[in-house]
Amino acid sequence: MSIPSKNRDFFEIKLDFLKDNTSSHFDVYANLDNTKVTQNQRPSIGTNPDADDLLLYAKAPYSWTHREISDLNSSGISSLYVKEDDRKRFQRYLRINEPAPEVDHSLEARFRIVQVEELGAHLIETSFLAEIDDDLVGKLRGVAGDLSNCLREDPRSVLHLKTLADHDLYTYIHSVGVGSLSTAIAMSLGITDPTELANYAFGGLMHDIGKRDVPLNILNKAGPLNPDEWEHMKRHPDHGTRIVTEFETPQMVVDMISLHHEKLDGSGYPFGLSKNEIPIHVQIATVADIFNALTTTRCYHRKRTRFEALMFMKHHLKGKISAEVFKGLVRCLATEEQVVPPASKVA
Ligand SMILES: [Fe+2]
Ligand SMILES: [Fe+2]
Repeated sequence: MSIPSKNRDFFEIKLDFLKDNTSSHFDVYANLDNTKVTQNQRPSIGTNPDADDLLLYAKAPYSWTHREISDLNSSGISSLYVKEDDRKRFQRYLRINEPAPEVDHSLEARFRIVQVEELGAHLIETSFLAEIDDDLVGKLRGVAGDLSNCLREDPRSVLHLKTLADHDLYTYIHSVGVGSLSTAIAMSLGITDPTELANYAFGGLMHDIGKRDVPLNILNKAGPLNPDEWEHMKRHPDHGTRIVTEFETPQMVVDMISLHHEKLDGSGYPFGLSKNEIPIHVQIATVADIFNALTTTRCYHRKRTRFEALMFMKHHLKGKISAEVFKGLVRCLATEEQVVPPASKVA
């Protein structure tokens, strides 16, 4: 057990904040003095314990069971302590253990897609912090189906997605945006098969899932990466491929995850593939990924307007991305006319 030195480095959490059958990705400290008080003499929240009384109780990652939480409760422990450095991890723990946002399926597609986006971001965040199991993958597939249904009902609902995200939420919101936009581009290129479209949504949703294995300080760095950090970041397509191949995943989805940073001129990673070595569904995910990143606010660049982003892609990515797919992107963002055929029956 290690003893922290300064109590100002800690904040207090209520035992009630910890939920049964969850994992915490932050160290939790206990005030040993609390064990000496009885149930009705518990110290109130806000009490500052002497730092010397705090001991590392649960080292991250830690799985909390119902039994343990109720044992702590009956020992008179109502408060625990977390290091200030872990405050963001604790906040994420609270968020992912909140009930998932709900989707009202009776809403029109353009309103429903905003709720699906929230649910998708919540589930992607969960997949970054918790164990990825069949249940979670099933829910993510459900979100992909909901996204593609919204777009088939109303292709223009893609324009209602968020383009603002705080830094921590960026990757999660971005993933939903890429899922939606990949589907919308595929539709604008004439793809109508519902299963295929749901796979576009799923591939886009999962394309950056491998970032869960990139160290947080690199993922959340508020500036350009150094060469060493960049090497770590470039492994996320491999990490993602390894994660999803543990589950039954359609090959086109695996491709979208493993190859979305390849470029037609061979300048991409991880394999440096070129032209027809890169399947069309991957080329679509790449264009959706770049456009969404350019039009979303991040701490190190301002958000571009859709027009600015399209101009940037047209002038700076010529030869790197597919001109056909780029045209598809322009068509599905067009404001004047609905270029995509109306959806057939929505499942
Ligand atoms: Fe990526
Ligand atoms: Fe991405």
